[in-house]
Amino acid sequence: MRNLSEDTITQEVLDRIAGTKNERTKEVLSELIQHLHDFARKVRLTEQEWLQGIEFLTAVGHKTDEKRHEFILLSDTLGLSMLTVCINNSKPVGCTEATVFGPFHVPNAPEFALGADIANGAKGSACHVSGRVLGLKGEAIENAHMDVWQADEEGVYDVQNPNFTEHRARGIFRTAPDGSYRFTTVVGESYPIPTDGPVGDMLAATGRHPWRPAHLHFKITAPGYQTLVTHVFREGDKYLDSDAVFGVRENLIAPWTKNADGEFSLKYDFILNRA
Ligand SMILES: [Fe+2]
Repeated sequence: MRNLSEDTITQEVLDRIAGTKNERTKEVLSELIQHLHDFARKVRLTEQEWLQGIEFLTAVGHKTDEKRHEFILLSDTLGLSMLTVCINNSKPVGCTEATVFGPFHVPNAPEFALGADIANGAKGSACHVSGRVLGLKGEAIENAHMDVWQADEEGVYDVQNPNFTEHRARGIFRTAPDGSYRFTTVVGESYPIPTDGPVGDMLAATGRHPWRPAHLHFKITAPGYQTLVTHVFREGDKYLDSDAVFGVRENLIAPWTKNADGEFSLKYDFILNRA
């Protein structure tokens, strides 16, 4: 087809992918094309703005590597990550809610025995974390695979150190026969997501702060249950209602209790949904 116009080009592009063999690929790509075109028409996208968009995405790509996930940050700060979590994680009332995965998970963290201290030099007051992993009917989930990671008292993750070689304040545990878990770590603080890249420029341009309320990340997997990716957020944190990545859920907020010896305790039970 020739002489395509603003009104006819969308259908022509859709027709061009009509032969896509994978039905889901076809559905997703078709909707993406339709919405992108509608977006451009609606905002009357200028050529300069189109180029700016291309340059922005190029910069996001250039900033991204194995340790710095700028595209995940972009998705997180646009609310797309949390939207996807919401779409895919509706659970019965009583189950622990899911939240964003975030960009600081490291696969194959070291595995520890229950009760171990995972700080390994991470800065911060000691914090004893414990609780149980249960099913919705209260059944203990034994041998659940619990992956934990967090920032330190300066709000920094081990992987953000340019000389990162050792895992700090992250590790993997297996729950006991009664579903219990316990470990020691440090008290992590609220932190700004990295702002030295294009996502930081976007936040500044839109008058947004980059802060996340203090939290501890968990990924819990167990046979027969839906994998849970979530955080536990610190009660009282001033960023709970303005998390830069929109991840806070009411039932994920818990108190970090200061003990007489100056160390802290956090108790939290996770309720998994059946697969
Ligand atoms: Fe985090």
